[in-house]
Amino acid sequence: MLLSLLICAVLAACGAGGSGGGSTANSGGGCASPPKLAKKDHYKVGFSQNASNNPWRLAETASIKEEASKRGDTLVYTDAANSGDKQVSDVQSMIAQKVDVILLAPITEKALIPAVLQAKAACIPVILIDRDVDHTLASPNKDYVTFIGSDFVQQGKRVADWMIQATGGKAKIIELEGTTGASPAILRKKGFDDEVKSQSGMQILASQDGDFNRDTGRKVMATLLQAHPDVTVVYAHNDEMAIGAIAALKAAGKHPGKDVIVASIDGEKDALNAIINGEEGTTVQSSPFFGPVSFQTIDQYAGGTKLADWIVVKDMQFTKDNAKENLPNSF
Ligand code: AHR
Repeated sequence: MLLSLLICAVLAACGAGGSGGGSTANSGGGCASPPKLAKKDHYKVGFSQNASNNPWRLAETASIKEEASKRGDTLVYTDAANSGDKQVSDVQSMIAQKVDVILLAPITEKALIPAVLQAKAACIPVILIDRDVDHTLASPNKDYVTFIGSDFVQQGKRVADWMIQATGGKAKIIELEGTTGASPAILRKKGFDDEVKSQSGMQILASQDGDFNRDTGRKVMATLLQAHPDVTVVYAHNDEMAIGAIAALKAAGKHPGKDVIVASIDGEKDALNAIINGEEGTTVQSSPFFGPVSFQTIDQYAGGTKLADWIVVKDMQFTKDNAKENLPNSF
């Protein structure tokens, strides 16, 4: 109820039928659904980042900035500093600046719905990157163009499959979840939990939000360890929380990699080094290098290509067998 009121308020403030810099309005004054993008040599691209407090986010931002400058496009960049409210107002400011198209990495599935609909009402196409929104509230190829991102369910399943092999299907697991309501947190949990359910010897002792953050992951792990000193596996939805969990395990006198197996997702440098030194078992990659694919998608969309609802980013997996050779390409 509150969300729909907010959406209505946002649409009214925006004024349906406005026009973004490079978008095209219908003859009736409204927008196509999703808004079209006029072909140009150079675009004014908005990139709304949700946070900058970890290497994954910094690598993503660097990739977008590098590609924009390679192409001579103008980039309007904002950092929401982990606030859904700020990210909504960041997108509103991009609309006011009449960007041609918006690349949006929404902090959670629901928080950015008003901004997506407001951009649509202003005839500015939105391309979601790295995180998705709730499809019951906004749809691809209608309210926004497409979602470019990893298969998060598959990432969780790949960690579970590796863990089943590594433990012979016997484990007492602590799961550190990403930010509540964020699509990778929801889907990485589903992929992992559904897979371990098939193993009678694997039990999830506790599963708690660590906000995709290293220090929060460390603190949550330290607390959960007191209630569950018998833990044998830690599954963290990203590498930052895994590194925090390793610190907490060591502080509690445990030996990560020996008495507790740690696995996570992302493929950042610190996790690859933890694999090399034996403290972490595996990390499934979640590529942050969105620059080339995002700008290529903008070109295709402006050229009239009908895009898939979801452009799937392919990911690797790192273990002791390939961590060292992939270190130079990590972030
Ligand atoms: O949306 C992708 C996730 O967000 C990354 O896995 C995580 O590290 C980041 O904060």
